[in-house]
Amino acid sequence: MPTNDSWIRERTGIRQRYFAEKEESTSDLAIKTCIPIIERCGASTIDAVILATYTPDHLMPSTASIVQKALGLNEIPVFDVACACAGFTYASILAYHMIALGSSDRILVIGAEVVSRFLDLKDRTTAVLFGDGAGAVLYEAGDKGGILGFDWGCENRSAPDVLTIPAGGSREPASINSVSFERHFIKMQGVNVFRFGVSILPRTINETLKMAELNLDDIDLIIPHQANIRIIEAAAKSLDLPLERFYVNLDRVGNTSAASIPIALSELNIDGKMVSGMKIMMVGFGAGLTWASMLIEI
Ligand SMILES: CC(C)(COP(=O)(O)OP(=O)(O)OC[C@H]1O[C@@H](n2cnc3c(N)ncnc32)[C@H](O)[C@@H]1OP(=O)(O)O)[C@@H](O)C(=O)NCCC(=O)NCCS
Repeated sequence: MPTNDSWIRERTGIRQRYFAEKEESTSDLAIKTCIPIIERCGASTIDAVILATYTPDHLMPSTASIVQKALGLNEIPVFDVACACAGFTYASILAYHMIALGSSDRILVIGAEVVSRFLDLKDRTTAVLFGDGAGAVLYEAGDKGGILGFDWGCENRSAPDVLTIPAGGSREPASINSVSFERHFIKMQGVNVFRFGVSILPRTINETLKMAELNLDDIDLIIPHQANIRIIEAAAKSLDLPLERFYVNLDRVGNTSAASIPIALSELNIDGKMVSGMKIMMVGFGAGLTWASMLIEI
């Protein structure tokens, strides 16, 4: 692939990323990331699982159902959400509604991807960006903190081929042709996705703040989807915020799609940087072109 390390660092901010082992699938990463949560709270206390991914183990059954069985969870509602890189924040907003309506008390929301299986390692415009990973959050009903505001949507003008895996679905089923023309790999119009990211980040942050009746100064940390450091820098500039207010780990893990925000949350937690009362704005955006942001008080 004709690329070089300095191009990748300068144009994306990515230094390294991880690929799953050959025999590992998305459910394997999801299960691993959930084990510490299950050990802490007990399998029987969880009453729903929402798994965000666009790289499921299979078209059916859902990857969530595979995770449910492996973790020994009860016969609870479990399902996948396919909103690409906005998947985790979409799933989190859904979990919020389920808890607010009283239908569930404890919901495991997982973002997990093995994007490497869908990368054409000869296509320099996509191959250098994505990595594999997983992270999970347990949302539960409580009196303190919670979801202060959210904003979600899907842009209604763009063609599907802005960011797509063309073959393998009902439009273009897997065939000898689909494989030989490499139609089962990610195809992306990078510039269009870049422009979308730059415009949607500040817009959705402001919408969520409006709902929460708060302003930018009230946010302790913004966790944007980790797509490209230049998208995050442009958003910071347009919001007139220093880059330090944004969490960045794409230099170490690349773009892990639906896993990117829960991986960031997990790192904050492990580093002891998640403090009670802290307000965190999470913003996902991706194929569709979808977006979802949510302001949470820990
Ligand atoms: C993909 C992306 C990094 C490309 O950066 P860019 O600055 O827009 O670069 P361009 O596409 O304009 O390409 C500039 C040149 O670099 C080349 N180039 C692209 N990828 C390259 C790579 N990995 N290594 C070296 N050169 C590369 C292009 O071919 C082009 O060359 P040309 O001028 O000879 O045609 C950028 O558009 C991006 O990050 N988009 C958003 C992608 C994303 O986040 N997707 C997931 C969203 S969830």
